[in-house]
Amino acid sequence: MTSNKAFYLTTPIYYVNDAPHIGHGYTTVAGDVMTRWHRMAGEDVWFLTGTDEHGQKVLRTAEANGVAPQAWADKLVADAWLPVLDVIDAANDDFIRTTQERHTKRVQRFLSQLKDAGHIYEGAYEGPYCVGCEEFKLPGDLIDGDGDEKLCPIHSKPVELVSESNYFFKLSAYTDALIKHYEANPQAIRPESAYNEVMSFLRSGLQDLSISRSTFDWGIEVPWDPSQVVYVWFDALLNYATAVGLGDEPGSEGAKKFAETWPADVHLVGKDILRFHAVIWPAMLMAADLPLPKCVFAHGWLLVGGEKMSKSKLTGISPQSIVDLIGSDAFRYYFMRAIIFGQDGSFSWEDLVARYTSELANGLGNLASRVQAMVVKNFDGLLPAPGELTAAEKVLTDLLVKTAAQADVSIRAFDFQTGIVAVKEFVDAVNLYVTEQEPWTLAKKDDAESRLRLATILYTVCESLRAISTLYAPIMPKSMSALWSDIGAAESGLGQSIAEVATWGQLKPGVKITKSESMFPRIEEPEQI
Ligand code: MSP
Repeated sequence: MTSNKAFYLTTPIYYVNDAPHIGHGYTTVAGDVMTRWHRMAGEDVWFLTGTDEHGQKVLRTAEANGVAPQAWADKLVADAWLPVLDVIDAANDDFIRTTQERHTKRVQRFLSQLKDAGHIYEGAYEGPYCVGCEEFKLPGDLIDGDGDEKLCPIHSKPVELVSESNYFFKLSAYTDALIKHYEANPQAIRPESAYNEVMSFLRSGLQDLSISRSTFDWGIEVPWDPSQVVYVWFDALLNYATAVGLGDEPGSEGAKKFAETWPADVHLVGKDILRFHAVIWPAMLMAADLPLPKCVFAHGWLLVGGEKMSKSKLTGISPQSIVDLIGSDAFRYYFMRAIIFGQDGSFSWEDLVARYTSELANGLGNLASRVQAMVVKNFDGLLPAPGELTAAEKVLTDLLVKTAAQADVSIRAFDFQTGIVAVKEFVDAVNLYVTEQEPWTLAKKDDAESRLRLATILYTVCESLRAISTLYAPIMPKSMSALWSDIGAAESGLGQSIAEVATWGQLKPGVKITKSESMFPRIEEPEQI
């Protein structure tokens, strides 16, 4: 049996203690851009996202709202976490919830197998715990608060002392194996700063991990001990594998899916949850003799006032509020273009509006509407056949080859900014070409030579827009699909293919060019400014 291994990318599964803010949208958009890119390059792709619903953080929020935790999670998923995928236009293939039976059953089976194989033992845990992170902390992780109080540096909230009898996973046994694995596969943790952080953490030695809790019951029951529930991170990390059939009977649908997807190519995570993914998760997989993910990529935080944007600090901005202003495409464009993926970035409405206006409304939007209007006016809306190409056109055809190659390399390497800037520079070059060639002057003349030259220029710009609407499609799917139709690419019988984007001359002369509504209408400055 041969089957194609899909490019499998995951986002973290999001806590349902609150509604999404743009920090969450940021991770999902990045995953969506990357998976759309691979899909448009003709690869099989599997893109998973979902929600993390167990643990104390969700339980306490539900209790504070006077609702049972399952009802709370159901409501948040239905009202906020599923709808936000439409708001930001994410094309995920699956959405896993950790309260689904497909997940809980597979987690229990995995845990029993680990126990039977001797990787789990009973012990006593005592130490600080941050409910915001759902993490057992080491004293060195904490910062000083008032008096004797110790705070979690991420949440600026006091940690709680946990003292329980729990089950432990022998995490410490994997220190050397993990170091060896990462030394041999430096690309398995990116960017380099994340790699270095994990390596120095590993070199300081690992402690065994408490993987169950006994003082509350909102979690997956430990299969051999109903008085304990599985530690929420142990439960949550497994989603990446349970969603694609972990441990299912050979020959079953689940086993087939697992063979087609596992190991994951990329776990996309925020830098705050890097260690869970690059230390605990691979150790769990090693214990079960499963292949390790090919890459964990840790991106930076969206900052507000220099701090991580968060709902609990009241700095959360909803994706909807930005999408209402500039649309989902420009939302996606802005975050992938303005912030270096892998580093922190400050969000500001001013920067958002400035880039939208100069790069999308004035840059790309104007180019498309100008050329569409000229084809409508001068050639009855039908794409004219070009004459001979001159040096000016050659500059663009050559640049397109370079642009396509650069965008492909950069985006596959998670350098969304460089990939987008390459395409943007091509847009700028086409705009410059129009300015220099002055098609409006030629349009005023009616000799055959001028008309042919005008035809060549307009064809060249439409062909350039064909390429741009392909290269930008993973970033701005809606408007690029409209542009694709408007310039007659659909009527030319073409498909948006990254692999063939730089082949010149694909549009068929004679197809209909439509002057449609402005792709990126000018916006009123929002009140927040
Ligand atoms: N439930 C865990 C993940 C489990 S994955 C097995 C979790 N959830 S979360 O909802 O708190 O965060 C999910 C993701 O959103 C993380 O990658 C986190 O880094 C990201 N972000 C949350 N706030 C963010 C910013 N302000 N900026 C960028 N990303 C942010 O952790």
